[in-house]
Amino acid sequence: MSNESNRRDAGRREFLKQSGLLTGGALLTTLPSFASSYGFHNSADDTIKVALIGCGGRGKGAALQALKSKQNVKIVAIADAFRDRLDDAYKTLNQNPELAKRVDVPEERKFVGFDAYQKAIPLADVVILATPPGFRPMMFEEAVKQNKHVFMEKPVATDAPGVRRVLAAAEEAKKKKLNVVVGLQRHYQPNYREMIKRIHDGALGDIIGGSVYWVSGGVWVNPRKPNQTEMEHQMRNWYYFNWLCGDHINEQHIHNIDVANWVKKGYPVSAQGTGGRQVRTGKEYGEIFDHHIVDYVYEDGTLINSQCRHYEGTYSKVDEAFVGTKGRVDSFGRQSILKDHKGNSIYTHNGKGDGDPYQIEHDELFAAIAKNEYKFWDAENGAKSTLTAIMGRMATYSGKVVKWDEALNSNIDLFPEKLAWDAKPKLLPNADGFYPVAVPGKTVAV
Ligand SMILES: NC(=O)c1ccc[n+]([C@@H]2O[C@H](COP(=O)([O-])OP(=O)(O)OC[C@H]3O[C@@H](n4cnc5c(N)ncnc54)[C@H](O)[C@@H]3O)[C@@H](O)[C@H]2O)c1
Repeated sequence: MSNESNRRDAGRREFLKQSGLLTGGALLTTLPSFASSYGFHNSADDTIKVALIGCGGRGKGAALQALKSKQNVKIVAIADAFRDRLDDAYKTLNQNPELAKRVDVPEERKFVGFDAYQKAIPLADVVILATPPGFRPMMFEEAVKQNKHVFMEKPVATDAPGVRRVLAAAEEAKKKKLNVVVGLQRHYQPNYREMIKRIHDGALGDIIGGSVYWVSGGVWVNPRKPNQTEMEHQMRNWYYFNWLCGDHINEQHIHNIDVANWVKKGYPVSAQGTGGRQVRTGKEYGEIFDHHIVDYVYEDGTLINSQCRHYEGTYSKVDEAFVGTKGRVDSFGRQSILKDHKGNSIYTHNGKGDGDPYQIEHDELFAAIAKNEYKFWDAENGAKSTLTAIMGRMATYSGKVVKWDEALNSNIDLFPEKLAWDAKPKLLPNADGFYPVAVPGKTVAV
């Protein structure tokens, strides 16, 4: 660290001590107006304590990104439903000797089971929620109740009751000035920021149509193992069960659907679409569809076509394109290209040298927390983009037109009555191990 940054850090620590923030906020009136008695870390030094909940691929990644942010972050607790996943994450977090110095997780702060999150949350200033999305509403609610800043992965729910819980907790988080970042990382990705700023400034005129895609080969599958209870099987193979995942239109394609909402500065008023299971029909694929095509209609009549599929060995495309009255934009990877209708360049962002958006979201979140600033309130948009994806699923499962308010007010609750390894999830297989699958025209939409 340079002398200059050492001096700045020492100065900041001194400010935090003098302002009383580090000791529980006794001198709150001396603080800038954004400060409140909630939500700011109150360790005896400038350490920001983090609890990781959900120790899989993204949880490990997010925890490492938190450690790599320029702030004094320490991982103090980790929690997972399964011991083997937790042990694997602990090993990964300790691989880099420099970062490992700030992994302070003795055995008594490793928590396993369905209630692990309740034990980890109180120990931290910031919680990383990276379990399958079905658990996000209850865990986010708990984190906000306990006045914690949050980084939570997308999507933030799998059904409408879950979305409503997140929206309510998002309101609470705002009142308490808790920073909340949702892992819709395109919001932290330079080419998207630049492209959407220009679109909102009118570079393309009014946006009147678009297409968003996540067409790919699909993801992992964990077939049933002998002696697993039904609950353990569904938890280990969570991608294929809607109470946990919400289908891939929700789990993956939310990224592109969310970009459409961002571009349109709003959420669709209705959706209709088609989908099914064409290729991926085995029992190991649970209940989800392998393709969805949805027309989303926005308030001004703009139609955005959304396409997602999981077919191995086929063409892949993960991007977005929008058409305006004055021009069009194509965005793929870290590039965004804006042109007028004659093909003349308006703006090109080639992305070379851009930072990693997964790192940027943590750098910005932890910098705000370290400076006691309230800067991020992503939960409401995260919940509404999640609902947009769920509304698409409702449309493809039912074959009906689904309106926004109907989707939001739906009482289809996918969550199990009880969480325990011997408890039964709501969806059960038949005698041959196959699960019921939605049938358009018969399945109820909302
Ligand atoms: N932003 C992105 O680009 C991105 C990329 C990948 C995944 N994700 C999101 O991150 C989340 C996790 O995905 P992943 O790929 O890491 O999955 P994963 O299966 O690798 O990890 C999930 C972990 O959560 C644990 N878990 C399950 N239920 C739990 C509970 N009740 N309490 C505690 N732990 C529990 C699992 O055992 C597992 O270790 C998902 O919401 C996914 O959509 C986002």
